[in-house]
Amino acid sequence: MRSDDMSSTTIDLFANADVQQPAKTERIGEQSFVLRGFALPWTDRLLPALERVLRAAPFRQMVTPGGFTMSVGLSSCGTLGWTTDRCGYRYTRIDPLTGQPWPDMPAVFLELAQAAALEAGFSDFMPDSCLINHYVPGARMSLHQDKNERSYSAPIVSVSLGLPAMFLFGGHVRSDKSQRVPLFHGDIVVWGGVDRLRYHGILPLKDGVHPQLGAQRINFTFRTAD
Ligand code: SIN
Ligand code: FE2
Repeated sequence: MRSDDMSSTTIDLFANADVQQPAKTERIGEQSFVLRGFALPWTDRLLPALERVLRAAPFRQMVTPGGFTMSVGLSSCGTLGWTTDRCGYRYTRIDPLTGQPWPDMPAVFLELAQAAALEAGFSDFMPDSCLINHYVPGARMSLHQDKNERSYSAPIVSVSLGLPAMFLFGGHVRSDKSQRVPLFHGDIVVWGGVDRLRYHGILPLKDGVHPQLGAQRINFTFRTAD
């Protein structure tokens, strides 16, 4: 085949389609990034560690201060776990369901969160909390800011696993127009700095079955709370 034959280029491209590509970074704000597929090489270690965390601190549906039961099931690991009840939103050292400290943050969780933060330009990320969100089809997270942390100097690192979801990334005012960012298994969103307090949420999860995780989406949200 001649070297200037275009069809050989096409064939080469298709031959490479199933070779693992380096993670692709998309910028969604001045200091906000989607790291496409960044968590994929970690899933073999993440999922068994997640199972251990959930055995100690199972998903549960929490109530908001306004009295609404969240459609998303929550758990946490790390020194501090985010909780909500009729009294308000806060971080606690003790899991209110079990009366025990939240499970330790698995080393693989911490390593992934730090690697993702660094990739997005945030060095020395030291999360003390990992909120674990469990979505089944129909579950949603309405637009909110993450502002129960003592300082906003550290970024948020948010890992998506399982079914795809539509992430809403808004501005600093609830009524600001939101970008719609589809998130897939293995994607990580990192936002911080000038974008740290931007509103965000998740549209109701669509029906589906993920080959590894089934009919669910799991999200890890790493934060420095204290
Ligand atoms: C959150 O804001 O806590 C969750 C975001 C997500 O599920 O991707
Ligand atoms: Fe959030």
